[in-house]
Amino acid sequence: MRKPLLAANWKMYKTVAESRAYGRSLLQQLAAIPQWRDACDVLICPPAPSIWPLSQVLVESGVRIGAQNVDKGREGAVTGALSGYLLHEAGADFVIVGHSERRQLFAETDEMIAQKVQAAQENRLVPIVCVGETQEQHEAGITEAVVLKQMDAALKNWDRSAPLTLAYEPIWAIGSGQVPAVETVNNLARKMRSQLGREGERVRILYGGSVSSQNIERFCQASDIDGALVGGASLKVMELIAMLKTCVK
Ligand code: PGA
Repeated sequence: MRKPLLAANWKMYKTVAESRAYGRSLLQQLAAIPQWRDACDVLICPPAPSIWPLSQVLVESGVRIGAQNVDKGREGAVTGALSGYLLHEAGADFVIVGHSERRQLFAETDEMIAQKVQAAQENRLVPIVCVGETQEQHEAGITEAVVLKQMDAALKNWDRSAPLTLAYEPIWAIGSGQVPAVETVNNLARKMRSQLGREGERVRILYGGSVSSQNIERFCQASDIDGALVGGASLKVMELIAMLKTCVK
């Protein structure tokens, strides 16, 4: 069966020193909940400069490291780009692809996101592909159509034999303190899964958007939601630990 995933998206927060200190504190806290390893995967996606140093702190802990973006290709004259090859070698096993902040602030298109999914999978990174509707689309009642279309476009080049994770993140829920009803998310996750065909049952589908220790329990209990992608609340170790304790309960 699908193992839940608690994924932290640190966005553009934490220096290398702060990331290391977080990692050390996380290790101490995890020692008190040894059952976490069997019950839930934990992933931290720090800013790129912290990927390698954090992976050194967390080595052999079972906590996984991910990147927040990936560029296509392997090596080359592409100033500023970070390929999956480089990220994987630096310690990343996962990568967030198509986050709404990248779609909006960096004009990432469905086509670019499809290429990034391919680039991730070719370099042994598990893509966490983000989809989600805007406030206007939510109010217009077209969430399902929007999300399924985004998903299809992002997975155009998907290698069905390689692992994949999806994250449903309504844009209006990110950083706003608002969360959709769990039944709505669960129903949507089921539809996403069935649209994936035969592989749908083994693809993890996360919920993201204002998840905290106060509301994670309802998402953990839903049949088709396999964990959470957490931004703001993941920046504090004790809050991450509180969420993990709820997930492993
Ligand atoms: P949030 O962010 O938890 O701060 O709402 C989630 C995300 O953007 O992945």
